[in-house]
Amino acid sequence: MERLYIQGGKRISGEIDVQGAKNSALPLLAATILTEGKSVLHNCPDLSDINAACKILSYLGCDVTYSGNTVTVDAANITNTDIPESLMSEMRSSIVFLGALAARVGKTKLCFPGGCELGPRPIDLHLSSLRQLGLDIKEEHGYLDCHRTKRLRGAKIMLSFPSVGATENIMLASVTADGETIITNAAGEPEIVDLADYLNKCGAKITGAGESTVIIKGVDNLQGTEHSVIPDRIVASTYLCAGAITGGELLIKKCNPTHIESVLPVLEQTGCKIITGADNIYIRAPERLCHMETVRTMPYPGFPTDAQAPLMPLAVIANGTSVFVENIFESRYKQVSELRKMGADIRIEGKVAVIEGVDRIYGANVRATDLRGGASLIIAGLAAEGETVISDIYHIDRGYERIEDNLRSIGAKIKRI
Ligand code: UD1
Repeated sequence: MERLYIQGGKRISGEIDVQGAKNSALPLLAATILTEGKSVLHNCPDLSDINAACKILSYLGCDVTYSGNTVTVDAANITNTDIPESLMSEMRSSIVFLGALAARVGKTKLCFPGGCELGPRPIDLHLSSLRQLGLDIKEEHGYLDCHRTKRLRGAKIMLSFPSVGATENIMLASVTADGETIITNAAGEPEIVDLADYLNKCGAKITGAGESTVIIKGVDNLQGTEHSVIPDRIVASTYLCAGAITGGELLIKKCNPTHIESVLPVLEQTGCKIITGADNIYIRAPERLCHMETVRTMPYPGFPTDAQAPLMPLAVIANGTSVFVENIFESRYKQVSELRKMGADIRIEGKVAVIEGVDRIYGANVRATDLRGGASLIIAGLAAEGETVISDIYHIDRGYERIEDNLRSIGAKIKRI
């Protein structure tokens, strides 16, 4: 079992590049099965979740090659239409293959993704939307048995919550449907825009991505294309937090500052100096961080739920009291019990966390309970007195490419054993 060892208290400084966005690469990989000819996706991060998506594509019959951060997919021959449970369970977001398979092959069987470490993650919005497009879905014995007798048809779909995954699944299913699909209350995350950009390059007719109404005019077919995945805004936010908590000074490169406009002001409140360029962010942290105003997670462009856990350790050692409100997921404070082992003073009441800043935290043996919770422990470990040992780091490897090498390159004392 691999673990991360962190010797805390080292100020980090230097330059660091941000990887491509996992949450963009996954739906893009699913989208490749809609195309004829090859798609070449650059800037795909080298992560276990991406490998899992590539395994699904290979199983379906696609020719998948991986070279550095470029994945090439040729989806000319789809030979399987189901996704076995073993592959589905490797990655919860494999549900995004449903919309693409519904459009491309018209029938599929996959297991219900079920709950996960963030609490129950229903897919009712995915299913009701796909049904509106004409997909017949039977839910039995934990499986989703789906088929269509004719081409899917465009529909007006109103989402009761701007779900990222549901918006992606609707786009994938409707892009080659008969007629026009209008999604209202659509998610507007940058990953949705990236998916629309890729599909439009393939010949799709999607407008409004990034806004609350997305219009998809169905086309007959799509051609593979070359595309570069957008930078990962959560990884950029995590590195900013690493710089901030160690009193450091960093230039974060190959990122898109406009994608984290809700995160930067929070860091400024803590006393960090931030300067943004077109594709980079400079941060210089004060000696002692200041508490922050209430941080409320919201759909984009609000504060991202995925950045809540990496930010929390800053509040833990800040001067004063900070309040977080988690509005997106039910169980997204899993890192708190581990942070408490390090000396954090955090009270949780439902979706609210009250964090009383303490003067110092201490290294401890802690466990990554989920991806962003694991990142939170790394950030805390960087600032803790003594050694922090993090176990179950496979969660962290789902979303951060070579995080220990990257942090070591800017002066952190961190190693994987
Ligand atoms: C995506 C991201 C995840 C991020 C989240 C919110 C990927 C692979 N994952 O997850 O990192 O934290 O967006 O920004 O892109 N919901 C329902 N019914 C549904 C679908 C969702 O009730 O059918 C609820 C969820 O339980 C949750 C909320 O809606 O409470 C947001 O979920 P959603 O936006 O769908 O997140 P994901 O696409 O799963």
